[in-house]
Amino acid sequence: MNRTVLHVPLLLIALMALVACSATGTGNPAASSADVRPFGATADGTAASLFVLRNDRGTEAHLTDFGATLVSLHVADRDGERADVVLGFDDVSGYESDANQYFGSTVGRVANRVARGRFTLDGRTYQLATNNDPNHLHGGDRGYSHRMWRAEPHPDLASVTFQLTSEDGDEGYPGRVEATVTYTLTDADELIVEYRATADQPTPVNLTHHSYFNLAGAGSASVLDHELQVFADLYTPADGTLIPTGAVEPVTGTPLDFRAPEVIGARIGELDDTSALGYDHNYAVRAEALEGGAEAVMAAGPVAVLRDPGSGRTLELFSDQPGLQFYSGNFLKGATGKGGEVYAHRSACCLETQGYPNAINEPSFPSVLLVPGEEYRQFTVHRFHAE
Ligand code: GAL
Repeated sequence: MNRTVLHVPLLLIALMALVACSATGTGNPAASSADVRPFGATADGTAASLFVLRNDRGTEAHLTDFGATLVSLHVADRDGERADVVLGFDDVSGYESDANQYFGSTVGRVANRVARGRFTLDGRTYQLATNNDPNHLHGGDRGYSHRMWRAEPHPDLASVTFQLTSEDGDEGYPGRVEATVTYTLTDADELIVEYRATADQPTPVNLTHHSYFNLAGAGSASVLDHELQVFADLYTPADGTLIPTGAVEPVTGTPLDFRAPEVIGARIGELDDTSALGYDHNYAVRAEALEGGAEAVMAAGPVAVLRDPGSGRTLELFSDQPGLQFYSGNFLKGATGKGGEVYAHRSACCLETQGYPNAINEPSFPSVLLVPGEEYRQFTVHRFHAE
């Protein structure tokens, strides 16, 4: 009892420090209180909430504590018309259903794939769920994307922190992990996602944000007419089960070369008959995570830019991570989402900032190992404007 009382002020101070750090994009956090609404209940009867962040331009980001998930994001086009640009569901039951392909969620303990769900640390082999036969995908049968996080909205700011304790042995991973993810909406139309985690034993940690974007509006038929630019010369080729071979190769001469802006649909057909079924590739944006926090991330410039020529809505993505998974929604197959909209094949795409897939088994890749006494930190900014 005493322990809880003693820790509450400490927790609040820590959370305010997180927000202060997050305010170092180009805009200040919007000075509006997060409004909280009911978002249904999970199958086991736990109430979920929806946190509505709003800035002074009228941009809104809606988040839920289930999966620390971005549910909707209402962004203006060149005429000031707003549209919700991310896929999702109307309440928590959709997120618990099989139709949820990690829409908008926080993915962990390890995003993307771990070969055969197996890795060895300090001489001991760990076997994880092989939920993407024969590999482990996005943290397993019930990863962080499918868990209820504890929410802490920040009074008078358009910001909310979600906190999760992932116990020793969770989904087969060693060690207990304490993770937080803070979403902050700024008055410069930036949605900042900041992650922190600590562990009490060495364990792999690789978190990502899994929004599916269609800048013409969620439910639009296709994302293939969007233009994409990815500031990466290299990518990690993968085998038939989407596990990297260990090589890091130039994008030159491949359909993966987005160094100059290109329409997504222009060359995707060349990938139809590959195991990726389209774009589902890790770009080696940099050889190691970028040090130096928010300022270094913004100064480095975007890692990718996504633009919808029709509406002019443009997303600039900034990140300190070594990897960027570009996934063109090849497994979308007509699920019904928010407002009855149907999410067709390739009707949205994901730009997931993270470590490289299967890095825990690939010593030449940047490490995803978190050890006691160190802190995992990740900083990603989604900045919107219309052209
Ligand atoms: C992506 C991954 C895809 C697919 C998708 C979820 O992050 O790259 O291969 O698993 O998530 O359906």
